Amino acid sequence: MRIAVYPGSFDPITNGHLDIIERASRLYDRLVVGVLSNGNKNPLFSAEERVEMIRRVTVHLNNVEVDTFTGLLVDFAKSKNATVIVKGLRTVADFEYEFQMALLNKALNPEYETMFMMTNTKYSYISSSMVKELAGFRGNLTGLVPSEIIGQIKEKYE
Ligand code: PNS
Repeated sequence: MRIAVYPGSFDPITNGHLDIIERASRLYDRLVVGVLSNGNKNPLFSAEERVEMIRRVTVHLNNVEVDTFTGLLVDFAKSKNATVIVKGLRTVADFEYEFQMALLNKALNPEYETMFMMTNTKYSYISSSMVKELAGFRGNLTGLVPSEIIGQIKEKYE
């Protein structure tokens, strides 16, 4: 059984993330979305809220599981019996950081492979931080995040 983990902060999940989840779920028997719960000290959404939102927008994908993790990604991958780490790349700006992380994770545990997937070009400009900035200015989030969670994001800025 081929199990992959797709880690991130997902504060909140965007359509770019969802696109990677949908595509990666077709490549592996199981895809575990890992929500880092102790990364940013000041997240907009709690780890539980982020997990719930991702579960809600991935109900149609029956081989996708969502869980939180703290600590090292390679330890989380091990706990899920995963052998692959999936990451999405949007632009060359993502490359340097992701390259460093992939090499570090490889050094920490050579059993895991990091697989990079190119973003769908229509989502290449979307990031969770841009979504939050836009939401703060009461901007239109249609097309940037799954429609099911737009109301929940807006509520945070009311
Ligand atoms: O969505 P993000 O914030 O870019 O995701 C970053 C994430 C969660 C993938 C990264 O911060 C991570 O893997 N953190 C866990 C700690 C870890 O293993 N770091 C690398 C070795 S120090």
